[in-house]
Amino acid sequence: MEEASGGAQLSGTYATAIVVLSDRAASGERADACIPAVREALDARFAIEIERVLPDDAAALSAELIELADVRSLALVITSGGTGLGPRDRTPQATAAVLDYEVPGIAEAMRASSARYVKTAMLSRAIAGVRGRTLIVNLPGNPKAVRETLDVLLPALPHALDLLSGGVKDG
Ligand code: MTE
Repeated sequence: MEEASGGAQLSGTYATAIVVLSDRAASGERADACIPAVREALDARFAIEIERVLPDDAAALSAELIELADVRSLALVITSGGTGLGPRDRTPQATAAVLDYEVPGIAEAMRASSARYVKTAMLSRAIAGVRGRTLIVNLPGNPKAVRETLDVLLPALPHALDLLSGGVKDG
């Protein structure tokens, strides 16, 4: 079997954005703690070029994701928050609206792993998928959840991003 992370060294760093969805963080009512959590979890292969804190607004998020994928051509966009059942939680819908296709295994792995930590893991409706050559992944919106989910996703991300960029052949 091919070593899944083998392509990462060949392809340099992955241009990455972090987008936090939180009405309270966007209004300044509460300090965001998820961007630091993502920064801490990602290693030096990921170059964090853009950080945004947006309110829970589906149209604004969809527009932002289109910009990050189509104009900025980022390799990876990580969102955090707005995946639950709250009245303003719209991140999965706003993400689904702009994807070319979903990568269901990423969200499946996230929820399966998270179930080891919290009984409420099933309440995250997070999705992941591809727009153009950009991988977009929803994470839940608290720093602990960010750490727990990135822990399980990180080993697979470089291979996914290398495949998307055309840097490695599958199989
Ligand atoms: N997954 C992990 N790993 N750790 C967590 O603490 N919190 C859960 C779930 N997934 C959690 C988790 C909870 S309580 C909710 S409501 C959902 O994620 C959605 O969170 P969000 O609305 O902040 O995105």
